[in-house]
Amino acid sequence: MAYAAFRSIGAYVPSKILSNEDLSKMVDTSDEWIFKRTGIKERRIAGKNEFTSEMAVCAAELAIKRSGINKNNIDMVVCATISPDYFCMPSTATIISTKLGLGNVTAFDISAACTGFVYILSIAKAFIESGMKKNILIIGAEKLSSITDYTDRGTCILFGDGAGAAMICATDNKEEAIIDIHTGADGTYADLLMTPNGGSGSMHDSLDQEAASCFMQMKGNETFKVAVRTLTKDVVEILETNNIDSSEIKYFIPHQANYRIIKAVGDALKLKKEQVVLTVQKYGNTSGASIPMAINDIYESGSLKSGDLMLLDAFGGGLTWGSALVPYSPLK
Ligand code: ACO
Repeated sequence: MAYAAFRSIGAYVPSKILSNEDLSKMVDTSDEWIFKRTGIKERRIAGKNEFTSEMAVCAAELAIKRSGINKNNIDMVVCATISPDYFCMPSTATIISTKLGLGNVTAFDISAACTGFVYILSIAKAFIESGMKKNILIIGAEKLSSITDYTDRGTCILFGDGAGAAMICATDNKEEAIIDIHTGADGTYADLLMTPNGGSGSMHDSLDQEAASCFMQMKGNETFKVAVRTLTKDVVEILETNNIDSSEIKYFIPHQANYRIIKAVGDALKLKKEQVVLTVQKYGNTSGASIPMAINDIYESGSLKSGDLMLLDAFGGGLTWGSALVPYSPLK
């Protein structure tokens, strides 16, 4: 049987910084309020002509190089994004594949908001275990600034841009294998976090309303409560199912939405500070890109070692959620 190994990571962060101070000149807010309620100090913003696919390509090039896999052997590309280059078509994954010069690949996008990376990890695992594909490039990439309303202080303080990519490859060594992935969704809460327009369910007729409702809208406080409840339940379940104690986790890498959410889940699992990976202070919430960007941070700091067990945990619009138990398994 083929197993799926998490071989490598890469990320791209735009150079422009949008600080809390900058935002306090745009909306009625303050550095103190934002930091206290979210843990965010600053976030990155992509350039006007810097599309999601371009950030994705930079992240992917690093992941491919670090994997040791020849790019001609990549047989699938999956991109998780809610801010694609083009809504509907072409998919961002097809653009990325062509920009990378990949030949004969299957390529598609998925939409699972902030849970996107955990969803594409599960897709890659399933394709590899079924024997259909061998070397899959997965990418979480977001230009959230393109769908953020910078007059809404309830959302614009949270989001940033960036991309992260990973190579997931077939192995016959069970020790290297991704252990388990759980994913879930509940459309009952669809209205907590949505972009109301731009699809066949569009609610408005007038152009002005249409333009405004293409931006993200969120019931932040209700989302917060569901996030803490769901994320905690999800990680407790995946650890119990696999008979793994939280002390065996080297790195807990949650979706970086809000420091208070991360702390609540970390405390519930009795995790030590050094087990919890935090990047929310410098990147804000980059949705599907946040988990691979955080993994890349520990990789580039030299802390991520072969065999380290990572616990991923995400929650986002849909509502969607997911968790994964993943050993870091670079080619030896
Ligand atoms: N600056 C100052 N005051 C503010 C701001 C701001 N930026 N935003 C809201 N306020 C005010 C509100 O108007 C409210 O004022 P009132 O009491 O006079 O009515 C007060 O602050 C409290 O507002 P709440 O919304 O209750 O604040 P809360 O503590 O919940 O923090 C936040 C808001 C940061 C948005 C939080 O709810 C949160 O992080 N929610 C979860 C986000 C999340 O996890 N999303 C899912 C993933 S995202 C994705 O999938 C794309």
